[in-house]
Amino acid sequence: MSGAVLNQEPALLVEQVKRFTDADLNALCEATDAAIIDGGGFGWVTPPGRRTMETYFRGVLLVPERELFVARLNGDIVGSAILVRPPRNNEAQAFAANLMHSYIAPYARGHGLARMLTEAVEERSRELGYHILNLDVRETQAVAIAMYESHGYVRWGEHPEYALVRSKSITGYFYYKRLRPAKTGGGQ
Ligand SMILES: CC(C)(COP(=O)(O)OP(=O)(O)OC[C@H]1O[C@@H](n2cnc3c(N)ncnc32)[C@H](O)[C@@H]1OP(=O)(O)O)[C@@H](O)C(=O)NCCC(=O)NCCS
Repeated sequence: MSGAVLNQEPALLVEQVKRFTDADLNALCEATDAAIIDGGGFGWVTPPGRRTMETYFRGVLLVPERELFVARLNGDIVGSAILVRPPRNNEAQAFAANLMHSYIAPYARGHGLARMLTEAVEERSRELGYHILNLDVRETQAVAIAMYESHGYVRWGEHPEYALVRSKSITGYFYYKRLRPAKTGGGQ
């Protein structure tokens, strides 16, 4: 027998990142580029260029209200998601966080990484004491919509002019998921 190993399961990992190695930042930018070129999952419609993207991700790590989660396939970063906590002056919505910019690069899809990414952000949100996780998605992201709906996200609204992609208006759907029992009270 040769030393080749057939049918080896890919190694899947999702974790929060607080600093980048050069290799990680490079892989993250490549994955993001590929997802943008494939048609979304991020605010950018066209890749903004490596320098801008690196600056963006370095900036994410510096913003106190943001936490970056990455998905790794066999050690390489292939996708990410951002947990956004409410600003400290928003007392009325201090129970709710946002899940933003979640995507997996096209070359790493179908392994369950997006589900793991979503669950990791939910778990961290619970740990931080949030009751609700909000997210929004373009109507064109059918796989993401099916995934979120099958994982307990409730669609509460839609925006007919949510995004403008190559001069075409795209509707957006807004979702929330309850992470723990509702907070009640007599406030206004
Ligand atoms: C949506 C997206 C994140 C899914 O990534 P992924 O790693 O391939 O997804 P997973 O392998 O974790 O699968 C998640 C679920 O979707 C299902 N799924 C995955 N690919 C599918 C496909 N092509 N068709 C139908 N269902 C599919 C899986 O069966 C799984 O269901 P389960 O959780 O009930 O088992 C990825 O396609 C993507 O990045 N799309 C573009 C960006 C986007 O839509 N982002 C989310 C909104 S911001």
